[in-house]
Amino acid sequence: MDFKRTLITSALPYANGPVHIGHMAGVYIPADIYARYLRLKGEEVLFVGGSDEHGVPVTIRAKKEGCTVQDVVDRYHGIIKKSFEDFGISFDVYSRTTSETHHQFASDFFRKLYDEGKFVEMTSEQFYDEETKQFLTDRNIKGECPRCHAEAYGDQCEKCGATLSPDELINPYNAVNGNPLVKKSTKHWYLPLDNYQEWLEQWILKEHPEWRPNVYGQCKSWLDGGLKPRAVTRDLDWGIPVPVEGAEGKVLYVWFDAPIGYISNTVELCGNEPERWGSWQKWWQDKDTRLVHFIGKDNIVFHCIVFPSMLKAHGDFIIPDNVPSNEFLNLEGDKISTSRNWAVWLNEYLVDMPGKQDVLRYVLTANAPETKDNDFTWKDYQARNNNELVAVYGNFVNRALQLTKKYYGGEVPQCGELTGKDRETIAEFRDVKQRMEALLDQFKFRDAQKEAMNLARIGNKYIADEEPWKVIKTDPERVKTVIFISLQLTANLSIAFEPFLPASSKRLREMLCMDAFRWEELGSMELLPCGKQLGEPSLLFEKIEDEVIQAQIDKLQATKKANEMESVKAEPIKPTCGYEDFEKLDIRVGTILECEKVPKMKKLLRFLIDDGLEKRTIVSGIAQYYTEPETLVGKQVLFIANFAPKEFKNGLVSEGMILSAVDADGSLVVTTVGRHVKPGSQVG
Ligand code: 2FM
Ligand code: ZN
Repeated sequence: MDFKRTLITSALPYANGPVHIGHMAGVYIPADIYARYLRLKGEEVLFVGGSDEHGVPVTIRAKKEGCTVQDVVDRYHGIIKKSFEDFGISFDVYSRTTSETHHQFASDFFRKLYDEGKFVEMTSEQFYDEETKQFLTDRNIKGECPRCHAEAYGDQCEKCGATLSPDELINPYNAVNGNPLVKKSTKHWYLPLDNYQEWLEQWILKEHPEWRPNVYGQCKSWLDGGLKPRAVTRDLDWGIPVPVEGAEGKVLYVWFDAPIGYISNTVELCGNEPERWGSWQKWWQDKDTRLVHFIGKDNIVFHCIVFPSMLKAHGDFIIPDNVPSNEFLNLEGDKISTSRNWAVWLNEYLVDMPGKQDVLRYVLTANAPETKDNDFTWKDYQARNNNELVAVYGNFVNRALQLTKKYYGGEVPQCGELTGKDRETIAEFRDVKQRMEALLDQFKFRDAQKEAMNLARIGNKYIADEEPWKVIKTDPERVKTVIFISLQLTANLSIAFEPFLPASSKRLREMLCMDAFRWEELGSMELLPCGKQLGEPSLLFEKIEDEVIQAQIDKLQATKKANEMESVKAEPIKPTCGYEDFEKLDIRVGTILECEKVPKMKKLLRFLIDDGLEKRTIVSGIAQYYTEPETLVGKQVLFIANFAPKEFKNGLVSEGMILSAVDADGSLVVTTVGRHVKPGSQVG
């Protein structure tokens, strides 16, 4: 079917934290590539995004941070929006589900379905905290995982990945305050998905066999399992109130209101700029509009089954033509996790790697998890930057522009007679538009970007083979043709890379003194006329050194260590002792006067301590934790003054014991005092 325009949406991220590379690789970069590609082709496109500010995740974050939910969503909406801008994600609108327009629109949507009897009302038993008088959502319930026995959430075990329902948890409790839970009945509204089963089967399984196998497969398995009514309201105090009498304390389920956000954000945009965008109805109700949702694989059921059923129930809307969903991106071999801080956060990345947005875009597309889960590693990031962006694309462009500057004062030279090699190279560029389109139209962005890089490779080889820097001495006329062709290839690269690396393409266009190119021009050898004056060349990409990469790896290692430490439980408390037991120990503060390794005794440190009365020697087996023991001199430590003396093999006698804390990884650190006290002060 031929459409007149394309409406692109990308999943609304929860405003409970910044966005990370997994979000980018899975959803936002592919959606942006597609939007840029269609715009470059001159098509009518609207790209809608926004923050998902309802639901339990934002409320959990607020409790953790000890602030209001509004504070949380305001802060992260700002951070997320800025990251998207910084990375060139070219939304036409980026709004939020706490906007007034959205509340009104989602509320009206629910009310229409309610009035038309499209919901069923059901009462069920849900977990309830009698102290706080609250029903708990799945995410707010924790308990023991029935499979791996780790602590798990009511909807999922993050340790073993099992999808759970709170009923399956062993000893469920309130995740926020630890209270035990009881069951209590509550009324909710359900969308009877079973009523739409047949229609969905026809629409997805019969009419869209071209959808990605992961999406099609997941839909088929849901449909084969038989759909059931799904609750679209929740007992929660954060969200859009259910617009029905007697529904106090209930809000729309976040997965009911969030996708409506795609529509309400369009309503907001079209209301603000009607002359540019036309009516919102044109985008959401006209059969000539093609709707494409970009999402991650955990969102498939909501975008392919639930939201379309809502739209069908409503009756006035178009439904998606495709739902390109990616698999997951892992980080250095481990699942990306917000709660474990195992991620590369976009806002932090830009602090560490300023100006390198396109490098990350390139690497995430080159490794996009389009058909299977993929892994991001910093070594691969470095290799792709140094060996592809710098050594191939950047190198070719730089050679072409620098030679133009050197030989022709930056003016495009005249093209002379073509050789066989020239014709061959030009022919390879002529086909690329068609090849890239075939891939981009099927959402195969990874392969499409490979084609663009392949063009750069061809250019690089061309200029390396022709060696204009040598030929200039023997046949200067020939060099004009080589540089002319190289410059046309360079201009072609800025078009081919435009959807993928927009900032670099823009810089390249500036160097070429061209305002804009059109996709249609890809393959042309007449992009830069002879005699045109070009701008000042500069490097498009820079080599990334090992130290920079190592710093990122170290940062992750530190996170891993912190996580491991957190997961280690403290030792159980020993049996109770009385004051008389404690009193037997004479614990005091001593000032370290000397501290050094004991020759030939690898483990030992010899301390000389001022104990307030005299100087005493204490020998301690902690040398491996202090590579520079002299740095301890002057510190005040706790020691047991009446500990029985101990003689070592070499005759050294220890007169007491310095107290150390044993960390979760077994490492030791001496216990010091918070402010200077008189040596010999007793501890009690
Ligand atoms: O999974 C998520 O991050 C959801 N916030 C996606 C919502 S997509 C749409 F429905 F808004
Ligand atoms: Zn588990």
